[in-house]
Amino acid sequence: MKVKIKVWRQKNRNSNGSFVTYDSPDLNPNMSFLEMLDVVNEGLAVKGDEPIAFDHDCREGICGTCSLVIDGKPHGPHKGVATCQTYMRSFKEGDLITVEPFRATPFPLVKDLVVDRKSFDRIQQAGGFISVRTGSAPDANAVPVPKENADLAMDAAQCIGCGACVAACKNASAMLFVSAKVSHLGLLPQGQPERHRRVKAMVDQMDAEGFGGCTVTGSCEAVCPKEISLDFIARMNRDYAMSLLKGDPKGIAGGGA
Ligand code: FES
Repeated sequence: MKVKIKVWRQKNRNSNGSFVTYDSPDLNPNMSFLEMLDVVNEGLAVKGDEPIAFDHDCREGICGTCSLVIDGKPHGPHKGVATCQTYMRSFKEGDLITVEPFRATPFPLVKDLVVDRKSFDRIQQAGGFISVRTGSAPDANAVPVPKENADLAMDAAQCIGCGACVAACKNASAMLFVSAKVSHLGLLPQGQPERHRRVKAMVDQMDAEGFGGCTVTGSCEAVCPKEISLDFIARMNRDYAMSLLKGDPKGIAGGGA
């Protein structure tokens, strides 16, 4: 099969960008979307043109680095998959496919389709951790965890921090990402000591990074490759309100249900 791709090209964040259309070479429909970009890039390199810059690492839906808006939708046409898990058989012969970077002010563009998502790292650093004594792993049954909480924590922990939620949101809100990170720790006994400090620190950092507020349109949930639920935002809001009520001046309010 052959397709045309209309790709956002931009040398760096200070230059102007524009769309450039390329004809793909013959493609195997079972190629992934990123493999299609690889073969287009091989053609560009052979001609001496600058290859298209795009992010990727695991190519297995794990790392969250592949960050493309395909035909207007972060991660492309399918629900619950990342760009690297999108295959060319999802498109038709001769299709014109538009490919853009994740666009949001807190994700400044680096080059072409690559954006800088270090703002997510800084939010994680603000509170996305637990303080436990290091050493050998404790017995699996030493700390009982209710089944419902364990399941919910695992659901939240699936977030791969790709930023599709931000790219899809008209407000560039990072609430789905932050709520997943807050919840997967806050639901487990090991995450209780910093529970309220964590939510306050992460939400404050999210605001400092310039992410917008949530108006519950649900576009984040619709494009999330791990189908993280909006319910986690409600859970985070409750925890945040509790952290304010506790009113610890350092934001350190341990324990709590
Ligand atoms: S490249 Fe790792 S999730 Fe897509």
